[in-house]
Amino acid sequence: MCGIIGYLGDKNASKILIDGLKKLEYRGYDSAGIAVVANDGIKCLKSKGRVADLEKKLLEDPIEGSFGIGHTRWATHGIPSEINAHPHLDCKKQIAVVHNGIIENYNSLKDLLIKEGHKFVSETDTEVISHLIEKFYAGNLEEATIKALKLVEGTFGLAIISKFERKIVAARRGSPLVVGIGDSEKIIASDVVPILSHTKKVVYLKDNEMAIITDKDFRIESLDGKEVEKKVEEIKWDVGQIEKKGFKYFMLKEIFEQPEAIANTLRGRVKDGKIKLTVDFDANSIKRITILACGTSWHSALIGKYFIEKISGIPTEVDYASEFRYRDPIIRKDDLAVVISQSGETADTLAALREAKKFGAKTLGIINVVGSTIAREVDSGIYLHAGPEIGVASTKAFTCQITALLLLALSLAEKRGLRIEQDVVDELLSAPQKIKKILGSLEDIKKMAEKFKDSRDFLYLGRGLNFPVALEGALKLKEISYIHAEGYPAAEMKHGPIALIDENMPVLFIVPKDNTYEKIISNMEEVKARGGKIIAVVSEDDKKISKLTENIIKVPPCHQYLTPLINVIPLQLLAYYVADLKGINVDKPRNLAKSVTVE
Ligand code: M6R
Repeated sequence: MCGIIGYLGDKNASKILIDGLKKLEYRGYDSAGIAVVANDGIKCLKSKGRVADLEKKLLEDPIEGSFGIGHTRWATHGIPSEINAHPHLDCKKQIAVVHNGIIENYNSLKDLLIKEGHKFVSETDTEVISHLIEKFYAGNLEEATIKALKLVEGTFGLAIISKFERKIVAARRGSPLVVGIGDSEKIIASDVVPILSHTKKVVYLKDNEMAIITDKDFRIESLDGKEVEKKVEEIKWDVGQIEKKGFKYFMLKEIFEQPEAIANTLRGRVKDGKIKLTVDFDANSIKRITILACGTSWHSALIGKYFIEKISGIPTEVDYASEFRYRDPIIRKDDLAVVISQSGETADTLAALREAKKFGAKTLGIINVVGSTIAREVDSGIYLHAGPEIGVASTKAFTCQITALLLLALSLAEKRGLRIEQDVVDELLSAPQKIKKILGSLEDIKKMAEKFKDSRDFLYLGRGLNFPVALEGALKLKEISYIHAEGYPAAEMKHGPIALIDENMPVLFIVPKDNTYEKIISNMEEVKARGGKIIAVVSEDDKKISKLTENIIKVPPCHQYLTPLINVIPLQLLAYYVADLKGINVDKPRNLAKSVTVE
């Protein structure tokens, strides 16, 4: 969840660390700090709040030095405060540590260290690491780190410096770390985003590996001290892709990028009406599919289940990744576990993947971030090619996941010798154009945002393929506007939520023209009869719904399999405009982090 950065080179480290932290802020942002080795020892500066607050402090109290580490925090142990912000130092302020993850046995380690005379200042689990390294330090930072980490249980991505040696030591177990190799500088970070403006050459650390970075070179060792051979890889994204390009927020930019992102997911995967997906398993031997994911990715998984069962006939289950391994799941060798994750680093999803592998299931990842941990651990994968998603609220990853899942379902059907509906394939190729059309006229959506921005609660209702879209619309609204919103299958309303309906309750219906159309109209009548305020997302050619409500958002007509892709766009925009009108920082909603790397 937190963001880690380290710099060693020929420039002013504090400035580079602050710039890097700004780019990492989407991973967590309740406090931030840097530690730089200056002429007279380690200089540490921390601040509660955003990186901008830390930057102000640095302007008043500049730090000179050309190597150091930095951190933006998302609290797990101890309240967000300056004291609990990283880096954490040892007693003599000779060692500084930044950490992402959770040290599970920190209480017993802390007791032991206190008995030995160490003085703790924070409530964090991380501080035990700086004291443990101090305990073992005898002139070599990597040796002390190895000894310290032998005692540690839990997960970590760590960057460590000492005032005695010009080097950064970084270690990983469960939290991602990437080393950027520039000409006269090296950067270590939790992901490639802050590295891109320095170099495109990177080395990804695996679990239980450690990087030792000096001016001359870098080496990777295992946490038991053995040298590891590593390939230097080239990042394909460019800096332009991670800038706002004139949009007020990354989220809005990413909503607008969806036509291109979906086209990229499709690129090279449909040829002459046939699906070209390379997967590393025999589709005919798969007896059952389990899809594992969290949050928005879990919503796309629900849509994926519908596609796979309907198009390829393979029984499919969907599990919250966080629940999966704690319920003793029955997984067999002829099962396929599909894991969906934008970041490829979500701790719950990674743990579920490892659980499925333990039982011998084949695994397939639907991932956006190339080279991420999940992408590396699956047997085969479908990259989304959506480009970097920076906004905490996932948007383009969702629509690209749906696209990839539809491709997967069609491909499984082809491989199993089933005839696929050609018009689905043709329509899929036209999805980017239809989304562009919605993005071209935003007036109705902005009007709805203005009208309903002060509501306390919202209900989102949909059926079939559009029930997960209702869940996703509600999630978008609650995470960025802080309005309580619930998604429900429309027919379930009468089994409980109908009690909530009164003249203050906006109810958003997703009304595609499919086999559920007439039933949804009945559900709308039920809401109308109880004074509820109806908003309806309808097909442009709809003739009936305007009789039930004046709050209409029109979308282009499309094949029923495409409706989730099309209908979610106005819901993303509605949530965006409501949050913006309420003055909320849309890219950095409270309490949330982009990449959830703790379980
Ligand atoms: O990176 P992942 O797709 O694994 O992330 C899963 C969820 O944490 C993520 O979708 C989260 O729900 C987003 N904030 C939703 O907008």
